[in-house]
Amino acid sequence: AGPCDLYASGGTPCIAAHSTTRALYSAFAGPLYQVKRGSDGATTTIAPLAAGGVANAAAQDSFCASTTCLITVIYDQSGRGNHLTQAPPGGFKGPESNGYDNLASATGAPVTLNGQKAYGVFISPGTGYRNNAVSGSAKGDAAEGMYAVLDGTHYNGACCFDYGNAETNNLDIGNGHMEAIYFGDSTAWGSGSGSGPWIMADLENGLFSGSGAGNNAGDPSVSSRFLTAVIKGGPNKWAIRGANAASGSLSTYYSGARPSKSGYNPMSKEGAIILGIGGDNSNGAQGTFYEGVMTTGYPSDATENSVQANVVAAKYATTSLTSGPALAMGSSVSLRATTAGYTTRYLAHTGSTVDTQVVSSSSSTALKQQASWTVRAGLGNSACLSFESKDTPGSYIRHSDFALLLNTNDGTKQFHEDATFCPQAGLNGQGNSIRAWGYPTRYVRHYSNVAYVASNGGVHTFDAAASFNDDVSWVVSTGFA
Ligand code: AHR
Ligand code: AHR
Ligand code: AHR
Repeated sequence: AGPCDLYASGGTPCIAAHSTTRALYSAFAGPLYQVKRGSDGATTTIAPLAAGGVANAAAQDSFCASTTCLITVIYDQSGRGNHLTQAPPGGFKGPESNGYDNLASATGAPVTLNGQKAYGVFISPGTGYRNNAVSGSAKGDAAEGMYAVLDGTHYNGACCFDYGNAETNNLDIGNGHMEAIYFGDSTAWGSGSGSGPWIMADLENGLFSGSGAGNNAGDPSVSSRFLTAVIKGGPNKWAIRGANAASGSLSTYYSGARPSKSGYNPMSKEGAIILGIGGDNSNGAQGTFYEGVMTTGYPSDATENSVQANVVAAKYATTSLTSGPALAMGSSVSLRATTAGYTTRYLAHTGSTVDTQVVSSSSSTALKQQASWTVRAGLGNSACLSFESKDTPGSYIRHSDFALLLNTNDGTKQFHEDATFCPQAGLNGQGNSIRAWGYPTRYVRHYSNVAYVASNGGVHTFDAAASFNDDVSWVVSTGFA
């Protein structure tokens, strides 16, 4: 059985089932998600390898070979057509044209399920999905349940990495107009014990960790690599539950009455579904989503416990984030541009600006050092890399507003993540393309001989699609210095 078969036997069927990694019904063999590739704008759908099975990641890999791919649609497996697509602007605008949010990279969150490769949905700040015309979702004070499998190590404190029920007009309509899973370490409204991250309920104008607003010590910090998060709510009751999605069983972090603060009892749920954003399209948050469902009715703890057992049996595990020619830890490297007309230029720095400069064996020692980088374990994720300056030890290449800078490591989580890059085989067939870990739609690119993390088409000048594959492909050699 799949999770939604279990919810159905419990009398609380799924009204929406979303996953890019696997079928959530044992009989489901339809499309899980749609990807769009950068080379020609073509789309394809990715289905399970077999009914009830894991997504056919190999089909994505071949469709997206030598280009970039975005997740354009996350299909609803329930048969109700409650698909998730690019979120429109609301109280807050997204970064894309017309205020839409970004779409997620199709390759930012590789995993395996029972040894078979699949891809999750890596939500960078600015990214979001939504459906405002959902069939069968809970409205008003009606009961519902939901769970999601997330990456417990990928989060931030911005509003709001959510999955669940929200407003149908993308605006903050008032207390009680949402009921969604939140995951992250925002302390703007509520918090739990420790320093986070926490699973909380986004009930609109508040992330709730227990009976009242603010801190509730019963809600623990949870950060297992694979995390099951559960929220459910009905007339004057709701609950938060959580577990390691790779082992063990659910714990109940809160179960009881609605917050006494005005507007949350009864609730005024509207029934849209959001992923990666707040109800008003607040889009500063980050996180990774692998699978999740919304139900009608208040699922029993026993039903949820059987769903958790099903998730554990799916055996989520990590897999490599990198490919292409290896960059040896601790070695000094130089990275040569491969765009025709620029092949004597190397990734270098001029002060704090990262750029490309013409370098050769007869260049000055100073220039050779400016174009040489020590490969370090990724400061934000040791499965990827960071580049420490040869001439300024302690300073690393990082992105800020998508420009590459050479800055001193200030020890913050933000710096560490901005300085983490995941090399893969070069998109033009040469060397490596180097993905920004935290923005996997973006690659290290030279544009007018200045370096950025750029997407393949987008709102910035440096996101131009023309010569993208060449501008993001670098031949790595032993460092000049
Ligand atoms: O409840 C927290 C957030 O507050 C909601 O997600 C958003 O709509 C509002 O800004
Ligand atoms: O480069 C994109 C973002 O811009 C970085 O993650 C952040 O540090 C800055 O605001
Ligand atoms: O960085 C040099 C060139 O500048 C890039 O190849 C091109 O995309 C931009 O015009």
